[in-house]
Amino acid sequence: MNNNINIQLLKDGYLKVDIDDQLDLEYEINKLRKEKNAVILAHYYQEGPLQDIADFVGDSLDLSQKAASTDADIIVFCGVHFMAETAKILCPDKKVLLPDLNAGCSLAESCTSKDFKEFKEKHPGHTVVSYINTSAEIKALSDIICTSSNAEKIINNIPEKENIIFAPDRNLGNYIAAITGREMVIWNGACHVHEEFSLERILELKEEYPGAKIIAHPECEKPVRLVADFIGSTSKLLNFISNDDGEIYIIATEPGIIHQMKKKRPEKTFIVAPPKDSTCGCSNCSYMKLNTMEKLYICMKYENPEIVIEESLRRQAESSIRKMLNISFKKSSVL
Ligand code: 13P
Ligand code: SF4
Repeated sequence: MNNNINIQLLKDGYLKVDIDDQLDLEYEINKLRKEKNAVILAHYYQEGPLQDIADFVGDSLDLSQKAASTDADIIVFCGVHFMAETAKILCPDKKVLLPDLNAGCSLAESCTSKDFKEFKEKHPGHTVVSYINTSAEIKALSDIICTSSNAEKIINNIPEKENIIFAPDRNLGNYIAAITGREMVIWNGACHVHEEFSLERILELKEEYPGAKIIAHPECEKPVRLVADFIGSTSKLLNFISNDDGEIYIIATEPGIIHQMKKKRPEKTFIVAPPKDSTCGCSNCSYMKLNTMEKLYICMKYENPEIVIEESLRRQAESSIRKMLNISFKKSSVL
């Protein structure tokens, strides 16, 4: 071990790095951030220490906007691949790092470009709205992107006469169709974390804590959404518990968000909604949890793994994301 670090080059080109557990990771990461003019962005589903060391913590919409407006040279994305890829699409001249390149998303993976092209061909003449939880290839095949925060606004911006394809989350799609009254052709994908919540066990908890409010992400299945007191993106859920007068909440989304909830309202009680399969007992997104403080340090030190996108694909994907940002952050805008 030299300088607290032992490095091996693996056959597939990846670095295997062992760090001395005496190394002060927080200090080292802060030093690298300053030396390299890097900004650390973290999603609410990341481990607490990653959220605490980040320059900014947010939902997927906030994070894409932060990435688009940063003047840092390096964006370090503590989140999953589609989030870091979105940052790279918006900032082609910046280096974008993801601590673990295997941090994917089951929802994004449920929609391949080959199948999606065929789906579009079956429904010609539709305006294609895709959730940000998709690959660059799917974004390039879409007219506009949305997140769970702005999906209602994006759909309401599409003229009534236009037909809509919505992909890839069937639960978010059905929820938005119901609240906007728009008919949509919806891709049949789902998030394995949000479809795991058990209505039966949530209702048992509600009996145990009669005053508790159920709050849910729109990626949850309809029966869970129907019993929820509030439905919203991660930022909206956080906002809700901050301003609401309740004391106890049953949280139907990935439990990483509870870190910020406890910071905002330490006097309140937050209970993770139980999953159908009680063997694991948790509702963690295994992809999100691949990132760690060690991997953050290593990726900042070696500027690896880096997100790379072929330029013509990047340009095609960019226009659908820019349209979303324009509608979300400008006062009035029509598609
Ligand atoms: P938010 O846009 O609400 O942060 O959600 C992202 C996500 O991946 C939900 O599973
Ligand atoms: Fe993807 Fe679900 Fe994880 Fe969100 S929680 S990143 S939708 S797998």
